[in-house]
Amino acid sequence: MPLTVDKGLGNTIAADSGLSFIDGAKGVLEYVGYDIDSLARGSTFEETTWLLWHGHLPTSGELAAFTAQLQSEYEIDPRMMDVVFAIPRTAAPMDALRTLVSALAHFDQEADDASPAANQRKAIRLVAKTATLVALFDRFRKGKAPIRPDRTLSLAANFLWMLTGAKPTDAMARALDVCLVLHADHGLNASTFAARVTIATQSDMYSAATSAVGTLKGPLHGGANQEVMEMLLEIGDLSKVDGYIAGKLSRKERIMGFGHRVYKAYDPRATYLKTFAKKVAADTGNLPLYEMTRRIEEIVLAQPNIIEKGIFPNVDFYSATTYYSLGLDLDLFTCMFAASRMAGWTGHCIEQLAANKLIRPHADYTGPHGLTYQPIEQRTAAGTSSTSPSRNAAMSVTA
Ligand code: CMC
Repeated sequence: MPLTVDKGLGNTIAADSGLSFIDGAKGVLEYVGYDIDSLARGSTFEETTWLLWHGHLPTSGELAAFTAQLQSEYEIDPRMMDVVFAIPRTAAPMDALRTLVSALAHFDQEADDASPAANQRKAIRLVAKTATLVALFDRFRKGKAPIRPDRTLSLAANFLWMLTGAKPTDAMARALDVCLVLHADHGLNASTFAARVTIATQSDMYSAATSAVGTLKGPLHGGANQEVMEMLLEIGDLSKVDGYIAGKLSRKERIMGFGHRVYKAYDPRATYLKTFAKKVAADTGNLPLYEMTRRIEEIVLAQPNIIEKGIFPNVDFYSATTYYSLGLDLDLFTCMFAASRMAGWTGHCIEQLAANKLIRPHADYTGPHGLTYQPIEQRTAAGTSSTSPSRNAAMSVTA
């Protein structure tokens, strides 16, 4: 087959998947056929995770058993605390999470058991423990004593309990739960692709999850929610929004929380969150922040060139104020994205292994050819010599 160039792989289908469907032109997202809006309204993170992994909604018995399995895995091996304590308190939580997710493998005797049953169990462990690790690291870096998980709570409620030491209200736990549902899966996004590339080499699920956490960290992917909140705090007041955004647009800077590789219509996750974030902000005294986001949206969407490019608010734009209203530090926002997307990453790993093929695209080589190797004593500075062109010179020859 002739090779085609597709930088960024935006026009390439690299896997079959039954987990989520996206119609970017119409602004549709479904998990296993269920519209994201109906899941955000009616489902929970536990039920959504089951749906993604099993391909159908659970019965009440199945959901109760699955929830109990997750709850029984909230705890981490006590030796993991030494790993938490070894990380500098100044480390960014996403960097700490990358290390901690990787370290989990050392305390799982099934880490290298590639059987489907063991992979299912590891998926449960990874989903259950990720939120635990985020809460434990946050308390450690603040010099606070760790709080043990409460196995009677949902994953969202338990996270808030472990983070603060206070049992969250039902409304707070539900607000976080909704964010977890909305972030649980999203086609072959960059971090999910990283997970599938890793597991496709027949590596292990912890390695795949570690690749995914590292990939999610970037501001073009999961890191945008933190940047949205930093922008809001930098602006500081509704009266300053217009000038701030006009300045950014005139300098052709990106507005964080806008645009998406796939959606060229309103991101359906943002559609739901837009209304939901207002309620959470109002309940927690953060309505002024929400009003700033609404004004930013109005200004950005009034730009003709923005509409032409199909740029709309994405999920990160409205999840930022929701996480902030729940009292999360800004640098924990992307960690919550990871805690949720772990459901998708592990589900994709299991799916990839069920019909595995090594993922190995090509690179378009742009360097020189046919150079003569020179012994080191004959070379001059920066790899140049009278007979060996420098890399830059060679590249300009081929350009
Ligand atoms: N603000 C202003 N202009 C933008 C933005 C933005 N946020 N995003 C894209 N553009 C412009 C960009 O400047 C370019 O214009 P031109 O064609 O004139 O050079 C055009 O739109 C296409 O941009 P691109 O980077 O080629 O498009 P992409 O599909 O590769 O980028 C994106 C997708 C998400 C990286 C980009 O929209 C972006 O950087 N957004 C801000 C970061 C962000 O919010 N990321 C979270 C994504 S949603 C969470 C997730 O699912 O990961």
